Amino acid sequence: MTAETSLDVARIRKDFPILDRNVRGERPLVYLDSANTSQKPRQVIDTLTDFYERHNANIHRATHELGEEATQAYEGARIKVATFIGAADEAEVVFTKNVSEAINLVAYSIGNATAGAGGADSGRLRLAEGDEIVITEMEHHSNIVPWQLLCERTGARLRWFGVTPDGRLDLSRADELINARTRVVALAHQSNVLGTINPIADIAARAHEVGALVLVDAAQSVPHGLVDVRTLGADLVGFTGHKMCGPTGIGVLWARRDLLATMPPFLGGGEMIETVWMERSTFAPPPHKFEAGTMPIAEAVGLGAATDYLADVGVGAIQAHERDLLRHALEALAGIGGLRILGPAEPVQRGGAVSFTVEGIHPHDLSQVLDDRGVAVRAGHHCAWPLHRALGVQASTRASFYLYNTHAEVDALVDGIRQAQKFFGTA
Ligand SMILES: Cc1ncc(COP(=O)(O)O)c(C=O)c1O
Repeated sequence: MTAETSLDVARIRKDFPILDRNVRGERPLVYLDSANTSQKPRQVIDTLTDFYERHNANIHRATHELGEEATQAYEGARIKVATFIGAADEAEVVFTKNVSEAINLVAYSIGNATAGAGGADSGRLRLAEGDEIVITEMEHHSNIVPWQLLCERTGARLRWFGVTPDGRLDLSRADELINARTRVVALAHQSNVLGTINPIADIAARAHEVGALVLVDAAQSVPHGLVDVRTLGADLVGFTGHKMCGPTGIGVLWARRDLLATMPPFLGGGEMIETVWMERSTFAPPPHKFEAGTMPIAEAVGLGAATDYLADVGVGAIQAHERDLLRHALEALAGIGGLRILGPAEPVQRGGAVSFTVEGIHPHDLSQVLDDRGVAVRAGHHCAWPLHRALGVQASTRASFYLYNTHAEVDALVDGIRQAQKFFGTA
């Protein structure tokens, strides 16, 4: 056990084989880049191997035993994911390749609502000139670009919440920004740069008053067990498997079944249809309507194993451990002269992604010095260019923590930054 929390981190670290390796020669790996992609526990790796060694077949169409097993494993993973996020029913869980695809699916589907392909009711999703989509300045590009493209296609107008200097959403104009013309409000639950956790329920309440749909990019919050779709307030939630101990190539869109039933399909192809004639087709009920072609089957099964793993460890214990690491990191970083933390400086309504700049040292140079010492962080704009512009910086360095990180690793980061300051003569 760590002294500070009830999580047995030493035991957890044994589940992650990669954490045992050295990098840059004899340096033990200090992996502080989980907001980028998380490491994978043995339980997930073994599930992938077992699937390919013993059960591999295509799903929903193969009539043999392996096909049945693969289908059961894939649909079983859907149930596990649904349970992990508190969904009422697994039919509310659509598998995608990542959260980017989940958001694009929604934007494309809404843009296609004129086709009536979602059934008689799909027209109510239609967007037209004069309609508005509201996002925020702290979004990842994945939750900006799809809406820009949708605006271009439909003539709708893109609007956004700004950020305050301490890295919170500026909600002072909320009632003006979200108004009778607003059709969609799309925002991150937790910023991948600032760590800020946004007040989704309040914003969703305002959006619902004016009849707008609320999409939450939960890529940075589901991995920490922060999402229960019954209480979040969103209509649509997207997240990505590789940031939550799962494989790459698998993501999720959650939405209520009635909303999914109304939305026209995204991609056309095998297994998303009910019947096909030469002139037209009808579509399978959700979630299959949105899963065209052969899906990332093993990856979905691996994601199911990841949710099992996180649930077994316990999301409460994971959150407490991450809060403890975050408190330690914020305190230690605050003691470094010339270091500016870009998000909230207090561990309140914020998660464990900490971005910062260090006076006189470019983030790429800093990350290189850290990498030489075995400390893996991310440097750049973290796919949030508008946010960096708003904060008046070109780039930043980001350290991000997960269940397997330790105080000693935070200390290695801090030592590395001090070393870089000495090296560049800025101390
Ligand atoms: C908040 C947020 N949204 C979207 C994404 C995009 O994730 P993916 O590349 O898995 O689609 C990320 C990844 O960094 C993210 O942090």
